Amino acid sequence: MPSHATRTHVAAIVLAAGRGTRFRSSVPKVLHRAAGRTLLHHVLSAVRALDVGQLVVIVAPDADDVRAEIDAVAGDEVTVVEQPSPRGTGHAVQCALAALAEGVDRVLVVPGDTPLLTTDVLARLVDADGAGGALLTAHVDDPSGYGRVVRDGSFAVRVVEDADASDDEALIEEINAGMYVFDRSRLQAGVADLAGDNAQGELYLTDVVAGQHADGAPMAAVVADAAVVAGVNDRRQLADAAAVLRRRHLDHLMLDGGVTVIDPATTYVDIDVEIGADTVVLPNTILDGGTRIGARVTIGPNSHLTACQVDDDATVHSTRAESAVIGAGANVGPFAHLRRGTRLGPDTKAGAYVETKNVVVGAGSKIPHLSYVGDAVVGSGVNVACGVVTVNYDGQDKHVTTLEDGAFIGCDTMLVAPVTIGANAYTAAGSVITDDVPPGALAIARSRQTIKEGWVDARRT
Ligand code: UD1
Ligand code: CA
Repeated sequence: MPSHATRTHVAAIVLAAGRGTRFRSSVPKVLHRAAGRTLLHHVLSAVRALDVGQLVVIVAPDADDVRAEIDAVAGDEVTVVEQPSPRGTGHAVQCALAALAEGVDRVLVVPGDTPLLTTDVLARLVDADGAGGALLTAHVDDPSGYGRVVRDGSFAVRVVEDADASDDEALIEEINAGMYVFDRSRLQAGVADLAGDNAQGELYLTDVVAGQHADGAPMAAVVADAAVVAGVNDRRQLADAAAVLRRRHLDHLMLDGGVTVIDPATTYVDIDVEIGADTVVLPNTILDGGTRIGARVTIGPNSHLTACQVDDDATVHSTRAESAVIGAGANVGPFAHLRRGTRLGPDTKAGAYVETKNVVVGAGSKIPHLSYVGDAVVGSGVNVACGVVTVNYDGQDKHVTTLEDGAFIGCDTMLVAPVTIGANAYTAAGSVITDDVPPGALAIARSRQTIKEGWVDARRT
């Protein structure tokens, strides 16, 4: 196989200017997400790792959102070219050719809607021998929607689009994956000859395959695994592709990462999520937004963590968390809601029906039940008993509650912020605390109980 270095004279063209009508969406198809990344991001990642000399992406006019995604994923590595109107894949390639650098003599074409693509399969295609170039094909159970490949031995005679296929051709189960490597000058001549005399009135890139065969420079048909080249034309296929991507990532975590996944079918882990060894992921768990989980953690069941960090040995049961940090050995849930800016220290607890937001909690502190703690600074060794509320909002501004080390907040305390409870101080159950409590003091802020002896009998007579 030719060495890596030989790819400097290869240019890759990624087609991302189509309308994506079958998605019925106001968002361009290539920006829809599967397993946490856009379709375009998946494709660009696979192509970039090939180290080709030039990477061109074809976009529609006014596609600022697509340009922004290209910029975020690959930055200035990419030459972006506009296709003025979506007149077909052949027309898209015509538009790209003018932007190719000198010294490029082979051109790889990749659709923007094939997120299962791997660098390996593209490398096989790029490195395929033959002056006429090559196209990737796959054998599939249901070829509908794809172009069918008419073969002559190891070469392709032509590709027939689904919309143009005769009944006999429609039965062919070898499909065109839409990925090709061309000799630059043959491609240039081939796309210049295209005519839109077909069912969709488009310039089909696939017609270059027949043209080259007729000119005596046929393209080799290279068979790939169907699960790697599947295209995404509608939202059913998006769901199917996402399931494959998630399963691939779970397999990687289980085989290479030493992670136990009890039930992969009900575990939704995006591909940019990392999980440490000997962590156990229980069913009905969703991990996304680049969440990072440490080693020996137990996560789930029924947990959804977005953009969180969970340190080693923590337990997170039936919890929703967003942009939160859960410290080593911490115990969260069941039924906790950790909102943005929550930072639980090591060996802390946030238990049942606890909601937190924008709070730093020091080591060993416990908020075991039914509390809301927001806009607060909680020291270490603090005990927040049942039903405590930080009264942080006055209708206009948010205010901070500070609980110093070792403080003990009695059940049903309302902490009217801004307020500070000093180190080791207590608040009595049912107190509404409006003033700071000095260290070591007890604050009681409620009316005394009154007993009326014999009241019930007196009322009945
Ligand atoms: C295409 C192939 C088909 C193949 C299938 C594989 C053609 C004519 N057909 O069909 O043989 O089996 O891919 O998945 O090539 N695009 C543009 N500009 C356009 C039209 C499309 O940039 O004017 C882009 C789209 O954004 C998409 C890619 O090209 O990323 C493929 O276009 P699509 O309409 O999805 O082609 P298919 O019908 O899937
Ligand atoms: Ca497609």
